[in-house]
Amino acid sequence: MQSQGVPMKSQLLTLVLSLCFFTPALAIPEKGHKIMVAAPSHRAIEVAQKVILRGGNVADVAVAVELTLAVTSPYYGSLGGGGFAMIKMGEQVEALDFREKAPTATGPSFYKDKEAKASINGPLAVGIPGIAAGLWALHKKYGKLSWRSLLKEPIKLAENGFRVSGDWVKLTKRTKPRFNESGIQSFFKKDQSSYKPGEVLKQPRLAKALRLLQKRGHKGFYQSSVSTDIVESMQKLGGVMTQKDFDDYSVRWLKPVTRDFLGHTVHMMPPPSSSGVVTSALIRLLEILEVPKKTPLSAEELHYLGESLKIAFRGRTELGDPDFHKNPIAYLTSDEYLKPLAKKVRKKRSLKLKPLSSKQIPKQSSETTNFTVMDKDGNTIVMTITLNGNYGSAMVSDRYRIALNNEMDDFTTRPGKPNMFGLVQGAGNYVQAGKRPLSSMSPTILTKNGKTVMGVGAAGGPRIITSVFQTWYRVISSGFDVDKALQSPRVHHQFLPNTLFYDEVYNSPDAVSLLKKKGHTMKASWMGKANAIVLNKEGLLEAAHDSRVEGSAGGI
Ligand code: DON
Repeated sequence: MQSQGVPMKSQLLTLVLSLCFFTPALAIPEKGHKIMVAAPSHRAIEVAQKVILRGGNVADVAVAVELTLAVTSPYYGSLGGGGFAMIKMGEQVEALDFREKAPTATGPSFYKDKEAKASINGPLAVGIPGIAAGLWALHKKYGKLSWRSLLKEPIKLAENGFRVSGDWVKLTKRTKPRFNESGIQSFFKKDQSSYKPGEVLKQPRLAKALRLLQKRGHKGFYQSSVSTDIVESMQKLGGVMTQKDFDDYSVRWLKPVTRDFLGHTVHMMPPPSSSGVVTSALIRLLEILEVPKKTPLSAEELHYLGESLKIAFRGRTELGDPDFHKNPIAYLTSDEYLKPLAKKVRKKRSLKLKPLSSKQIPKQSSETTNFTVMDKDGNTIVMTITLNGNYGSAMVSDRYRIALNNEMDDFTTRPGKPNMFGLVQGAGNYVQAGKRPLSSMSPTILTKNGKTVMGVGAAGGPRIITSVFQTWYRVISSGFDVDKALQSPRVHHQFLPNTLFYDEVYNSPDAVSLLKKKGHTMKASWMGKANAIVLNKEGLLEAAHDSRVEGSAGGI
């Protein structure tokens, strides 16, 4: 019996492995014992290390990292964007919302008589930026070093210049047809040819704006020649924002959405992000369907993950900015709503939930970014920032050369039609003056008995939610280390279109054909780009960045 049992076991193992997604060769996470950072640029890591050596805390590091990205990575880091942060300082976990707001002159039917792409390209796509106010609020509440000192390195990088990377060149060239005149003048050479990787880009005008910010705090952005510059540059091209919109901009401190799962508490972004609500529903579905018992990355596990994602995303259409819309959070995450849907999930057949529409799949996008900072005591900041599209609206202000977002496209600009991420959105997300558009950004912190376990966030439109979730799920449920969790294959489903997207980087023909047999419409596709830090049981910080894009982890 024994001798027959061995080959049977090994055959079974071979079968299971062949049905699992191929997992790439993995690096080990970067380890540190004081403060660690995982960010999309090695320059940001270098600046972070200097701030740590000067005695800065996680809030100081976060401010300096984003200001560095504003100089080196304007396509997603510019001061013309917005974002969210999940923050744990001491015991308390809070969410900071510095998302863009709709200008006063806009409203639910604002885009009706405008060009089809007015919410994506040009001055009407721009929401009132929130980055400068967000960083200032974070600094005021938790910063240790002086504000002035945090701007020193970014100003130096803008004035003296930095060598552009291959990614910088690619993303900048891609936006050339959409840029206004000032965009071309800032990011291309005098003869309008592109910079080559390794050439030095200096941004003296941006440095002047940063100096104003350094001297006057957030007022140096919102009530200064910087805001005048943005308002006048956009009005000249037909934009509707006013100085009053800048005067009225303010950030919000919000209470995270939390859910317990597998002995951990997951702290997630509340509306205006959809992430906390969608992920809470997802967690409940995984519990009901007992998904953590399935073999990690097997076709069966991916089938159940895909079905759960499909159902969880279905409720996203009911969400919007909480200052303007009553979000049915309790209902969308309740057993009353989820149990009957979970009951319909079959082992062998993909569930057909009535689709609301079935429009084309969005193209790869790389215009948001995330970074994570954690110290040995578990103080953590996960910050996700975005311009929405690549260089946002592709509008750049004339005097200070600030690249501006196109976050207006995250609203329901045309009911029933998908936005640039293929999302069909609901009435709670109609455009209204001073409102913030619904988001998928998901800075997330996990704790166990009140102690920090992990911080994680990602870029990638609605794929942020699935990438962040699968990264922490692989750590706490599959038992992977943080690097393996980040590099592992992922799937994505957002309810509409009714397609199970699988990782184009790491696919397994066997698993894909098994999933097809269950009735899934399968499509190889890009996934979100994440980074994360784990505070392990020995008290060591383990940080890693998604190999799908440029990025790094470091610290001390
Ligand atoms: O807030 C959101 O959900 C989108 N504006 C995020 C866009 C994004 O992640 C683009 N890039 N990768």
